[in-house]
Amino acid sequence: MPELEQALAEVAAEMAERTDRGDVATYIPQLGKVDPRKFGIAAVTNDGRVILAGDADQAFSIQSVSKVFALTLALGKVGDALWHRVGREPSGNPFNSIVQLEHENGIPRNPFINAGAIVVSDVLLAGHQPREAIGEILRFVQFLADDDTIIIDREVAASERATGYRNFALANYMKSFGNLHHEPELALGVYFHHCAIAMSCRQLAMAGRFLANGGRNPATGHSVVSAERARRIGALMLTCGHYDGSGDFAFRVGIPGKSGVGGGILGIVPGVASIAVWSPGLNEYGNSKLGSIALEKLARMMNWSIFAPDAGRRQ
Ligand code: DON
Repeated sequence: MPELEQALAEVAAEMAERTDRGDVATYIPQLGKVDPRKFGIAAVTNDGRVILAGDADQAFSIQSVSKVFALTLALGKVGDALWHRVGREPSGNPFNSIVQLEHENGIPRNPFINAGAIVVSDVLLAGHQPREAIGEILRFVQFLADDDTIIIDREVAASERATGYRNFALANYMKSFGNLHHEPELALGVYFHHCAIAMSCRQLAMAGRFLANGGRNPATGHSVVSAERARRIGALMLTCGHYDGSGDFAFRVGIPGKSGVGGGILGIVPGVASIAVWSPGLNEYGNSKLGSIALEKLARMMNWSIFAPDAGRRQ
């Protein structure tokens, strides 16, 4: 069994060679400008090692990966009351689907599809101006990653707002059911900006550490969330983190993961490490094509499935 350093280097070298890289998202015009040949991967182990390969220090648009951090903050604010407004079931539908909302009274299936994350943004807006809510999310991510250089890419946020017709439709539709407490454009302002956070694989893996370590920052021992909440966020990532590709990701990789349409994926190996991978080309579900393949290979090399009886021994 290879060491983690060697495994990461091998996977990155293999991914660099591949020509079948998927298609970069173009529905947010700014994302369409990203070079599809990029590939980065970072692992931060609970014992403090930071292992990087490829373009691991180049920032990219984390997009829906940010929904994990927004959810964590919202649970901190309103606790289990969140679940009156957002479900906890896989949707089996694409990330931007509207179909279930009519039958389910404007209550989104889970916090990771766009509709669910817009409700989460609405929760974070309570008592704040959008600017303050956006600042709070950014500062939370900076705190988790222990890196105050992380920024929001305003051009990406503006680009998404300019073309965000589906998200406006979702927000207006939920508003009509009374499941948004603020005006749709305000909740969407928060949502577009947290999706536009730019981070490198290193920064993203650092930010995910608390989820790999029972809710505590492994470097400081400080609690971010309770161990129970960390487990539950992990369960949602496993079941809903890749939309209608979640079952396949769980089957192939076997760890909780959250993807973003910028081509990033945050993977959590409980008790072992936080992993971030980035390759901008997407598969048919809107998840990073090579990112998913890289995590599948890495998980197999390291025996990292959460279903493996000795998972977590190999680092
Ligand atoms: O709302 C959107 O469409 C984007 N801001 C986020 C979608 C996304 O990342 C889907 N993930 N694979």
